[in-house]
Amino acid sequence: MHLSNMSAVVTGGASGLGLACARQLAQRGVHVVIADLNQQRGAAAVAEIGSQACYVQADVCDPAQMARVFDAAQALGVLRALVHCAGVGGAVRLVEKDGQPGSLEKFESVVRINLVGTFNTLRLAAARMANNEVIDGERGACVLTASVAAFDGQIGQIPYAAAKAGIVGMTLVAARDLASKFIRVCTIAPGLFDTPLLARLPDNIKASLAASVPHPARLGHPDEFALTALHILENPMLNGETIRLDGAIRMAPR
Ligand SMILES: NC(=O)c1ccc[n+]([C@@H]2O[C@H](COP(=O)([O-])OP(=O)(O)OC[C@H]3O[C@@H](n4cnc5c(N)ncnc54)[C@H](O)[C@@H]3O)[C@@H](O)[C@H]2O)c1
Repeated sequence: MHLSNMSAVVTGGASGLGLACARQLAQRGVHVVIADLNQQRGAAAVAEIGSQACYVQADVCDPAQMARVFDAAQALGVLRALVHCAGVGGAVRLVEKDGQPGSLEKFESVVRINLVGTFNTLRLAAARMANNEVIDGERGACVLTASVAAFDGQIGQIPYAAAKAGIVGMTLVAARDLASKFIRVCTIAPGLFDTPLLARLPDNIKASLAASVPHPARLGHPDEFALTALHILENPMLNGETIRLDGAIRMAPR
């Protein structure tokens, strides 16, 4: 897909990986709608990116709010791209250190934001894209965001791992489901990236996480995630696949 005269929705686009995607899409001349809960960061992102971007405050789990996001995108141009980055971390153990069972509410919340939010966003995007004119055999392309946590089984990550594994599981089904509509779906499973999501960790923990990446032994730059997201959008043969983007890290159990 040729990235130019079109619009794109980037969820979680006010920060981290999503912000890098919004920036790079705008640099290619794409009209970008940033959908994010964080109004302050959303405004800052638009101030930085300029007139190619606009911000709509929305919760990815909320159908009416996300419908407004897609309305805004379609007002700017033909909606041909979705980059869905909105997500949250969250740790729960089956049996917590105090002996109590892990929180069901926390599990549900993390799964809702990460997994249900992905389904909600993808279904709404696909329904809009399905009405697009076919250009070069395509109507649109969607990039979802999982995590290596979907595969690596780290202790304490049950809700996050379950949600992200759900996104991985959704990817091939979604690609097959949307094939007849000429819409592609791929997922990126990042390893460790230097974003505000990791900023809450102490520096020494961040440094030891970075050193645990085989090569390059550092945290990923959000721009490297955006490079992959834009490549997926541009390369018509990429479909139904989850791409690990992780410097060969395989996370240890703890
Ligand atoms: N940074 C990493 O190392 C890493 C690793 C693996 C996976 N990921 C995934 O990448 C994605 C982006 O992470 P990031 O590191 O850029 O984090 P981030 O915290 O910098 O950005 C996430 C953005 O999502 C927004 N958001 C959260 N819940 C939302 C909701 N319900 N509706 C709308 N917006 C919402 C936040 O406001 C924030 O701006 C997430 O899905 C995360 O799980 C990140």
